[in-house]
Amino acid sequence: MQIRLNSPLDMHLHLRDEDMLKVVAPLSSKSFSGAIIMPNLVPPVTTKEELIAYKNRILEAIGDDNFTPYMTLFFKPTYTKEFLSSIRDELTAIKLYPAGITTNSEGGLSGFDINELRETLTAMSELNIPLCIHGETNGFVMDREAEFISIYEKLASNFPKLKIIMEHITTKESVEALDKFDNLYATITLHHLLITLDDVAGGMLEPHLFCKPIAKRPEDREALREVAFSAHPKVMFGSDSAPHPQHTKEATHCSAGVFTSPIALQVLTELFLEHSSLEKLQAFVSDNAQKIYSNIEVPKKVVILEKKGFKVPMKYGEVVPMYAGEKLKYSILF
Ligand code: DOR
Ligand code: ZN
Repeated sequence: MQIRLNSPLDMHLHLRDEDMLKVVAPLSSKSFSGAIIMPNLVPPVTTKEELIAYKNRILEAIGDDNFTPYMTLFFKPTYTKEFLSSIRDELTAIKLYPAGITTNSEGGLSGFDINELRETLTAMSELNIPLCIHGETNGFVMDREAEFISIYEKLASNFPKLKIIMEHITTKESVEALDKFDNLYATITLHHLLITLDDVAGGMLEPHLFCKPIAKRPEDREALREVAFSAHPKVMFGSDSAPHPQHTKEATHCSAGVFTSPIALQVLTELFLEHSSLEKLQAFVSDNAQKIYSNIEVPKKVVILEKKGFKVPMKYGEVVPMYAGEKLKYSILF
């Protein structure tokens, strides 16, 4: 049996830089048509020059693959309409991080005063630049995403023309928020469809499944599965594949991030099949995103999956992928 996916997209991806970029970028560019590239480098991507230079380094790392890196800036409330207009052709979205909430987010936002954000968010609305948000407060770790919902609601109601993407949602509260505002959308990762907090910390600690936002309760995973397996038109796949070297994962102060890009489509196929939802996979991994991000052009690529075992390597460079050493049921036909 073969399964064909047209132009799969990863709407939330970390590619890093330098040697790491060279290892991980081809793993996405072989199986996806494009991806939204996160800007949380050190220092973060905040200028036109940095954005173009980073895009060029990505293009160099992927060689001849037919793949578009959709570039993002790290949100600053100082971006003016003039600046955003000047970078419009190179820019697909802007990513907002609350300060210190996750990897390399120290330069993020420390408050959500609408008046301080008005100029930049109004310009983004007018230029049709979506705002991607890492939606967590600095409260108790299991409550951070639910506590952030009121901020999403404040932003969505004050800027009704601004497309707001709730990134990597993990809770039933976020799923419920989606239908309350026309301009709220969401990405969902593979790992949050698969695991709960039990898989991370219920037995021996599993650092390779430690990520932000942390995986939640079974009922939260169920809510995510419901909208993913039905390809709710406001959700799309975003892996949040976040590579870190093995020695920073298997350590005190373990870095947050699950590395899934080399296994994402294979495991999504198995999961959607298992839940009798295969006919919804195309919408979840591409069609919904193309409708939500009306500002992207998508390279044509057909990716074929077949029922043939795939033994996941123990490492790609210095990075341990999810399911390292295990055998998956589906492989990509390259
Ligand atoms: O687990 C995560 N890793 N969550 C994020 O928000 C950032 C990411 C990273 O950059 O490592
Ligand atoms: Zn991320």
